[in-house]
Amino acid sequence: MAELQTDLDQYPIAESGDLVEKVPVIDVSAIITDSSSPAARDAIDRIAAACKEWGFFQVINHGVPKGLVNATWRETDAFFHQPAEVKESIMRSRENPWGYYNNELTKNQRDKKEVFDYTTDGVDPIYESENRWPDVATPFKTTMSDYRDAVTKLGLSLLEAFCVGLDLPADFMRADFENDHTGFIRLNYYPVKDPLAHSNIENMPVADLGVHHHTDAGALTVLMQDDVGGLQVFKDGFWHDIPPVPDAFVINTGDMMQVWSNDIYQAAIHRVLAMEQKDRYSIPFFFNPSAATEVSPLPTVVTDERPAQYRTINWSDFRGKRTDGDYADYGPEVQIAQYRI
Ligand code: OGA
Ligand code: NI
Repeated sequence: MAELQTDLDQYPIAESGDLVEKVPVIDVSAIITDSSSPAARDAIDRIAAACKEWGFFQVINHGVPKGLVNATWRETDAFFHQPAEVKESIMRSRENPWGYYNNELTKNQRDKKEVFDYTTDGVDPIYESENRWPDVATPFKTTMSDYRDAVTKLGLSLLEAFCVGLDLPADFMRADFENDHTGFIRLNYYPVKDPLAHSNIENMPVADLGVHHHTDAGALTVLMQDDVGGLQVFKDGFWHDIPPVPDAFVINTGDMMQVWSNDIYQAAIHRVLAMEQKDRYSIPFFFNPSAATEVSPLPTVVTDERPAQYRTINWSDFRGKRTDGDYADYGPEVQIAQYRI
């Protein structure tokens, strides 16, 4: 990416004519049923093509129940509408990244959003900390736990598709994800009104985007967005909208998938515009491998003509460094380019 202008946000938005391309919308029902079935192959090929071209696609007929999706939106909305003091009582810290936050940095620029992050139950192996749940008598915790489990299941099916698409057995990555993955869910709230407008933090940086441009660090992201829009992916010198599609999930590959695939699948750069008319919500599930996973290009994508492009990355180490950069400005954020051979 060295040839790109450093300020990617100065590039134009593809708004008219031939420039407007859309990420594919793929029916994944056959993959969910049996990823090794002939019926699944067509969808897998479309996913592989989308990952090479975009690093993004949308999925429909994914098996996540509509009732659960509706309950998750309801609880998300109610959570962010609580008084600031209530949300701030479960504020994340440098030591424990789980909970609420309203001052996140992406590449050391402030994002105009509020978030709530939670992971699997128990003590997580990277930060050795537990989820912070709001102390309220609502079904928030059970709904969010059920939602996490449903998208984890979808994530495992999609991983099988990625493996088959790279000529590997469908279950090749299962052991790294099934039992002790370090994936987490983020509830994103992008308000029109700056959540820190009334704070008296000195020299507060302006938040001119909902999320500044970045790649996701892990394997893949399963994201549900509401009907407002604002998510954009960078491709061929333009920002392209990823429009809301009813009942679809947006999927994108992260840094670890780029390393595993030896650059065949790109971790796409994306961002979210700052909201000006209407508040927006989105809920990404960042599906990440177990803490001990050593990530390096997979056997089928390393050849004499195309040797491994990366040194081995220890997932826990990489993730720990990235989270520090999101929390506050502790210097430049870690990137996979630093592991390039
Ligand atoms: C993220 C992200 C996109 C969105 O949280 O990493 O890219 O649509 N979110 O909110
Ligand atoms: Ni992202």
